[in-house]
Amino acid sequence: MAYALVTGASGGIGLELARELAKRKIDLLLIARSSSRLEEICKEFRATYSIKAEYLSVDLSLPDAVTQIENWIATNSFAVNILVNNAGYGIWGRVDATSKESLNNMMQLNMIVVTNLCHVLIPELKKHPQSYILNVASTAAYQAVPTLATYAATKAFVLLFTRGLRLELQNTSISVTCLSPGATSTNFIDRAGMEALKEKAEKFSMKAEEVAKIGIEGMFNKKAEILPGFVNWISVQLTYLVPKFIPEKIAAGLYK
Ligand SMILES: NC(=O)c1ccc[n+]([C@@H]2O[C@H](COP(=O)([O-])OP(=O)(O)OC[C@H]3O[C@@H](n4cnc5c(N)ncnc54)[C@H](OP(=O)(O)O)[C@@H]3O)[C@@H](O)[C@H]2O)c1
Repeated sequence: MAYALVTGASGGIGLELARELAKRKIDLLLIARSSSRLEEICKEFRATYSIKAEYLSVDLSLPDAVTQIENWIATNSFAVNILVNNAGYGIWGRVDATSKESLNNMMQLNMIVVTNLCHVLIPELKKHPQSYILNVASTAAYQAVPTLATYAATKAFVLLFTRGLRLELQNTSISVTCLSPGATSTNFIDRAGMEALKEKAEKFSMKAEEVAKIGIEGMFNKKAEILPGFVNWISVQLTYLVPKFIPEKIAAGLYK
């Protein structure tokens, strides 16, 4: 049986996306940095869902990360028919108050790794009668967000890249989907340095389990874009209906 490869599977939305796949008896290749966490998750999934689960601990922001994954797949002759590009993070703060290195690491993970993993795995995915790519963007992909300016721009990249790739691959066996969550209860807020906004965010947050269930169902239903939850859906529709400065002003107030 072919595997699903999930990045950022040690916690948050990625862990729950992996669990949704495990529930469907799909074997898993899990990627993140925390090897002890990945080992525990693989053990749990093997025992609970009777699937095969393997992991690779790698820092995806390092330049040779995708080559490491490529070599790991080749050495073990893993067949892969699902790719979930979930790993990603935000950095809260003004561009001129953030180091160039921090911004570059985030852009590397959020954009370059997503693109390169698709590039490297498309030939393998094409070998299978039905394959899927699920790239995780954000509702921030649909509008500019001051204090999350670079993060929002990386997610706009993921959204447009995914839609373009979907069309390029429409006559192949690969279906390509973009999942754009809104606020979701995970480690995201802490990693982004947005602790001050935690209480506010929790009020609107969806559970990672809910987002993952909707995401995996949408991927198997071959949707182009998935906006989980009514509040997220309506807020994105509004960005198409009103002048751009209105949602930008609202975001500026929300993320202050
Ligand atoms: N939570 C939200 O509100 C929200 C909203 C919209 C979109 N998203 C998107 O959803 C995706 C998942 O985020 P999340 O909320 O689940 O965040 P999270 O709880 O912080 O999980 C992030 C995952 O990515 C992994 N990761 C982070 N940096 C990595 C690196 N350099 N190399 C390898 N793995 C790395 C983490 O594992 P290790 O720490 O073990 O490496 C973890 O498994 C991201 O793309 C995020 O932008 C989240």
